[in-house]
Amino acid sequence: MSLLERAGLAVLHRMDPEQAHDMAHKALKAGFGPKPGPISSPRLETTLAGMTLANPLGLAAGFDKNATLLHPLAHCGFGFLEVGAVTPRAQPGNPKPRLFRLGEDRAVINRFGFNNQGMEAAAERLATRPHSLPIGLNLGANKDSTDRAGDFARVLSHCGAFLDFATVNVSSPNTEKLRDLQGKDALAALLAGVMEARAGLPRRIPVFLKIAPDLSEAELADVAEVAANARIDAIIATNTTLDRSGLTSPHRDQAGGLSGAPLFEKSTRVLARLHRLTDGNIPLVGVGGIATAEQAYAKIRAGATAVQLYSALVYSGISLVTDILRGLDALLERDGFDTVAAAVGTEREIWL
Ligand SMILES: Cc1cc2nc3c(=O)[nH]c(=O)nc-3n(C[C@H](O)[C@H](O)[C@H](O)COP(=O)(O)O)c2cc1C
Repeated sequence: MSLLERAGLAVLHRMDPEQAHDMAHKALKAGFGPKPGPISSPRLETTLAGMTLANPLGLAAGFDKNATLLHPLAHCGFGFLEVGAVTPRAQPGNPKPRLFRLGEDRAVINRFGFNNQGMEAAAERLATRPHSLPIGLNLGANKDSTDRAGDFARVLSHCGAFLDFATVNVSSPNTEKLRDLQGKDALAALLAGVMEARAGLPRRIPVFLKIAPDLSEAELADVAEVAANARIDAIIATNTTLDRSGLTSPHRDQAGGLSGAPLFEKSTRVLARLHRLTDGNIPLVGVGGIATAEQAYAKIRAGATAVQLYSALVYSGISLVTDILRGLDALLERDGFDTVAAAVGTEREIWL
């Protein structure tokens, strides 16, 4: 991390977390931060659900909810970006404060509740997107919608022409009853609607499903079965957790979804179980608590074809992307893997 980035983070950490988040957006827009472009090497280049990635590290959903930072983010080193969540209509989200830093735990709690400017604003920005890396959209449902399942299909129909992939997010804990859509029948019906919307797009794009880390063994098996039947192209494991075990920070009892370091083990276990349940037949994206090259590598060896991160950027800044990728390349080389793909799932058993 450069001195400038360190100083910038120190300032941001003295501010209210949501104001700091807005300030970080402004800094990126103004051109601050490292600009390595997509980092790549023959070892790091990989394929996810038919998309060629310069490297397997993506930005997780929620950082750029309104797709306002596509151009600056394209230069930060990531192999792919996921923006959103976007709902059909704009909505304000939950009352503030709704974002909390848990510094002692290297974690974050958020209860944003899908605050976003709606699919029309997102589509306008996505229409002028950069094409140097794959970009996907996290689909959400309006809080006051009378047809939440239909909302996912609506956003996909409206924005799909500008996307490389779309993610069905039924795993956010911050919209009441949203996660009920992860149940077997509800999920099958919802995914059928989304796949129908995809069939109407000018170009077929992969559809991903993002799951919660708090599913029971039986619920996880149901999700895997429904995803396979619906021919989902990849599963993202996982979203934030409601679990609060082992936290020490003063904000530990705030309502919302917990992300960052305390989520790492739990989300990696879910990932490994999902890899076993799907026999490695559905590509998996591992997300939850990645803050080092070793952790990105551990997710890959637990079964992830690619990985994403968000919360660690709060503590380590955007240069972390470059550090993780250089470290990952070295770890693959150390262990004799010529490609990321060769390492996928090779240590799954230790997480089961
Ligand atoms: C402030 C914040 C907002 C988020 N918003 C979304 C969202 O809109 N959609 C979604 O699928 N996940 C959202 N997430 C979850 C992240 O994409 C990711 O799954 C989770 O934070 C775990 O990764 P991490 O530990 O690297 O942060 C959000 C996370 C945070 C911290």
